Amino acid sequence: MPAIPPNVRGAVVTGWGTALPPKVVTNHDLEQTIDTSHDWIVERTGIHQRHVGGSTAGLSIESGRKALEMSGVDPLSIDALVLATTTPDRTVPASSSAVQHALGLRCGAYDVNAACSGFVYGLVQGHGMIAMGAKKVLVIGTDTLARITDWSDRNTAILFADGSGAVVLEAVEGQGQLLGWDLDSDGSAEKFLYSDVGGFIQMDGKEVFRRAVRIMVDSATKSLNHAGVTIDQVKVVVPHQANIRIIQAACDRLGAPIEKAVTVLHRTGNTSSASIPLALCDALDNGRIEQGDLVLLVGFGAGMTAASAILRWGGEVGDAKVLS
Ligand code: ACO
Repeated sequence: MPAIPPNVRGAVVTGWGTALPPKVVTNHDLEQTIDTSHDWIVERTGIHQRHVGGSTAGLSIESGRKALEMSGVDPLSIDALVLATTTPDRTVPASSSAVQHALGLRCGAYDVNAACSGFVYGLVQGHGMIAMGAKKVLVIGTDTLARITDWSDRNTAILFADGSGAVVLEAVEGQGQLLGWDLDSDGSAEKFLYSDVGGFIQMDGKEVFRRAVRIMVDSATKSLNHAGVTIDQVKVVVPHQANIRIIQAACDRLGAPIEKAVTVLHRTGNTSSASIPLALCDALDNGRIEQGDLVLLVGFGAGMTAASAILRWGGEVGDAKVLS
């Protein structure tokens, strides 16, 4: 992708929120039903527990409502809703329809499916709409992977889970937060990770692992180059929460100390489209990101897709003025 042209209307995040279903399934719970162990799962993935339950629309309504409340934005003034999900509640209509109605929005609403890269795809689309005149966009990433996971398959049951994260984007005067971005896809790798309609996730874990590290590093490097910044200038890396070893390997190759990476997978598992916003919100709620900090979002997923973005928190001037 080319670099962002100068003088396009930018945006900043003004509110965020998350939702996790109340039911927690621990590794010890899984030991009761499949041939695995807590120690094996922790050593190979970093996951200790995951949240399971709820619908894609239900979780999206919860995280979206929290993001709207934090931003203080009138739902009627939202210009678009983008819901990233690979597990819609129905084939038709898009799950975003139910979310739009429940949140009292009066705007265009659609789903985007780019698997675990979906939230960054949605975030970039939201910025694109703001560059074209929209003022406020709600971007949500939600997945309910438990419904397409075969809980008797130890290859996948240890990984996948449910959750949601949302952000409100608002147009600002001058350059906003997005300094560089990259969206990638390699359809030839579809066979390594897929789920047929009505079926369960099928995965070649080793091949996905190998490719994941490479495409995360490739995508992140493109975004860094487009933004004209180096990894040393990045304060916080928000990676897709698939496996701590993938995050470690990607950070090593990017030259980022692991301490820069936000990880929530130990308590959430892999929530696909929700994973990056859940980690981003965790970093924000814990004060790890301050005005002016550079943040790298980077994900990969089925497709195989990859996506990354460099954000200057608060906008390029550090505390950009939101357009009313
Ligand atoms: N519990 C206990 N033992 C297991 C388990 C399990 N759940 N699964 C496999 N094993 C055994 C294997 O049988 C094997 O035993 P052997 O040595 O006697 O043959 C041994 O453990 C090692 O198995 P591997 O498959 O080599 O394990 P690996 O280290 O590759 O870890 C894993 C497997 C965790 C799936 C890893 O490959 C991985 O994380 N891959 C990436 C998956 C991923 O990120 N998917 C999501 C993509 S995002 C999206 O779009 C949804």
